[in-house]
Amino acid sequence: MTMFLTKDQEEMLSGVKGEAVAKSMELIVKIGEVYKADRLIPITNAQVAGVSYLTVGDSIFSFFELLSKDAVTVKVPTWLNPAGMDMEKWREMEISEDFAEKQFRIIKFYEGLGINPTLTCAPYLIGHTPTHGDHLAWSESSAVSMANSFYGARTNREGAPSSLASAITGLTANYGLHITENRYPRILVDVRTKLESFSDYSALGYWFGKKFHSLIPYFVNIQSLNINEAKMLAAALAASGSVALFHVKDLTPESKSIDIENVEEKIEFTESNKKEVYNHFNQITEGADLVAIGCPHASYEDIKLISNTLQSRQMKKDIEFWIFTSSKTKAVIDADSLLTNLESRGIKVYADTCMVVSPSVSGNFRNVITNSTKAAHYLSKAKTTLVNLLPIDSIMKEVTE
Ligand code: F3S
Repeated sequence: MTMFLTKDQEEMLSGVKGEAVAKSMELIVKIGEVYKADRLIPITNAQVAGVSYLTVGDSIFSFFELLSKDAVTVKVPTWLNPAGMDMEKWREMEISEDFAEKQFRIIKFYEGLGINPTLTCAPYLIGHTPTHGDHLAWSESSAVSMANSFYGARTNREGAPSSLASAITGLTANYGLHITENRYPRILVDVRTKLESFSDYSALGYWFGKKFHSLIPYFVNIQSLNINEAKMLAAALAASGSVALFHVKDLTPESKSIDIENVEEKIEFTESNKKEVYNHFNQITEGADLVAIGCPHASYEDIKLISNTLQSRQMKKDIEFWIFTSSKTKAVIDADSLLTNLESRGIKVYADTCMVVSPSVSGNFRNVITNSTKAAHYLSKAKTTLVNLLPIDSIMKEVTE
């Protein structure tokens, strides 16, 4: 099948609108041909990964040179994933001058394209909420899963270059999760154990993704799915597998229109499956030196929960406690004195970055406790770091007195 292009799109591809637009179109068309897309479709907005200097390295600068040949800007509202450091407190995070200089250059380039440097993996927490049925080009895997599942928007798991190409052209190829038939679940998962903490949601997602890779699940018997629970489930599914869409009976927008008679397999998630995941990330044998919370980026409610548990307790002296969030959420907790309360107890809140895409965690800490299987998964891949996975209330008991 040959992909249909409009006259305007043909012109964009041929270079009439400049080299950067032509290169972007080339990439989108190539992807469309590989996946046998029938046409290109307009997107409402884009979210671009490939921001942290730790993950992109120096090769990003030659890619930027290609795009710099003409004064191109993005065609739709576009946001950025986290960087490798807090843009203000990078020295406190022990980031080198060289790293910081390159990180600033990367962000400046994106800003020059008209991209909003939100530097968060959870744009939906700071007002950039996807609308049901919108076509998007997002590249942060946890955010992709949230957009598709929790909001009923439509995006494939874009790579950093393809989401940027879509931002520049305002287009994506019509394939994969943009098409209704590809959004049906393949497996019904009967959740036979209680999900009592954010890390339990994370454990469920991790277990499923590891076992079934990219298949779309339909969960039943989940009693609650608020935004904070959903983001933990979404991130975990996307980290251990590459699940970009999940349905939860009665709780996600597309679940009501699904005929579960067509699912190919039915399985159960039990208490022992949940324990398996916690045991898998029970690696620390001596004292922990860091608690890292905020994967995906912490919401106001996540931070409030931590602050509440501190009311009558003190932090132990021999452990660092870092929370990662967006600068926008940090400004909100600053305005209502939550930030002062946390900082006065020795808890550090870093914006714009996270425990995985910043070199400051795996480079400086050996034993890390977290409540996120995604963070645990990537941190334990760095051979120098051991992790423990625990629910927030257990973490707070362990690190306070
Ligand atoms: Fe976000 Fe970093 Fe986790 S980008 S989803 S906090 S690995």
